[in-house]
Amino acid sequence: MTDPMIAVDNIHKSYLMGKEAVPALRGVSLDIQPGDFVCLMGPSGSGKTTLLNIIGGLDEPSRGHITVAGENLVALSENKLARLRLQKMGFIFQNYNLLANFTAQENVEAPMVLAKVGRKERQQRASALLERVGLGDRGHHYPGELSGGQQQRVAIARALANNPPILIGDEMTGDLDSETGFAIMRLVAELNSEGMTVVFVTHDPRMAEFARRLIHLQDGKILK
Ligand SMILES: Nc1ncnc2c1ncn2[C@@H]1O[C@H](COP(=O)(O)OP(=O)(O)O)[C@@H](O)[C@H]1O
Ligand SMILES: [Mg+2]
Repeated sequence: MTDPMIAVDNIHKSYLMGKEAVPALRGVSLDIQPGDFVCLMGPSGSGKTTLLNIIGGLDEPSRGHITVAGENLVALSENKLARLRLQKMGFIFQNYNLLANFTAQENVEAPMVLAKVGRKERQQRASALLERVGLGDRGHHYPGELSGGQQQRVAIARALANNPPILIGDEMTGDLDSETGFAIMRLVAELNSEGMTVVFVTHDPRMAEFARRLIHLQDGKILK
């Protein structure tokens, strides 16, 4: 057996609202193998985003363990965690989260700037990635000049910038019409077939069908 790419072990998470602790996750355990294609589903408020953010190192569990690519996230310094996120994970969000004052090309280059990739290589790689997602001729456009589907393609190219083994998506087709959403999911499925580990959240069953494994969350727990 190979080691899991992501190991979630009895994670609990509560948010403090004033003096009250609001439980978001209540004992979640989950192993995700390299190359898995996992969809997290469940009603609004069931803890999907919280779990995804903890896997992505964007949030910390209140208790429990989380290992990503062999690293214990809770034990990492801020710097090491930032580096792990940069090198091991690409993120895609519902609202694309592109930098509005940067062109598509510059948005894709941004994670490579942080990873200190040289200028020439950065430019070549960003162009190749934009080509890959079907936007080879849109590099000089700003996000405001692109459709939602095009912006999400730029976000995917950006997520791939440092060639991470893991792709994480939170409602990445949520703002798109279904045809455009399917096109995005086909692209993600293609990346998975090339070996990328994919974990995504959706509440659209038609998008969930692309995954190989469905995990249902309810009230902060995995439904068995
Ligand atoms: N930053 C926060 N502060 C307080 N409560 C939060 C916060 N984020 C999420 N929650 C609560 O945690 C629970 C799970 O939320 P979330 O993970 O966003 O669910 P989902 O993505 O499945 O809709 C909900 O009860 C939500 O209100
Ligand atoms: Mg959510």
